[in-house]
Amino acid sequence: MERRLQEEFPVSWVDDDYVTRREFFRFMTLASGGLAVGTAGIAAWSALSRESRSFDPVRIASRAEMRAGSSLAFAYPRSTDLCLLIRRPTGEFVAYSRRCTHLSCPVDYQPDHDRIYCPCHNGAFSLEDGHVLQGPPPRPLPQIRLEFRGDDIFAVGLMRGEA
Ligand code: FES
Repeated sequence: MERRLQEEFPVSWVDDDYVTRREFFRFMTLASGGLAVGTAGIAAWSALSRESRSFDPVRIASRAEMRAGSSLAFAYPRSTDLCLLIRRPTGEFVAYSRRCTHLSCPVDYQPDHDRIYCPCHNGAFSLEDGHVLQGPPPRPLPQIRLEFRGDDIFAVGLMRGEA
């Protein structure tokens, strides 16, 4: 039986190992190349998704309507995308998505801590750029780009692409 097998497949075991090892390294090289290309693609997609995106400008409020340390809920860019316009105690205006990046609970401004807070799982975000200060949210809050026209405040786009 073994003799017949060797006649049909005349490859010695030593050569057979050599071929197998070479194929294995060829496979590993191709797999590594595929992983490298995939990683580069994911990195490029991630960078693109962080670029700012413009939408039609929407007036949110006037500066005079917002006292320092207050916030105003609005929708942008779609009527279902809830956001928060915040006037910090310093007088600076910022706006962020109101949807927590953990499980989408609505977040609120906490003027006493000068941060955005999610009561669902004790998450918190910075007002500087929306980065996570504490809790389980995996990503920063998407920031809304603002533009000032006279006394009026407009939403004009997103800093991070998650409309
Ligand atoms: S939903 Fe906001 S921290 Fe969990």
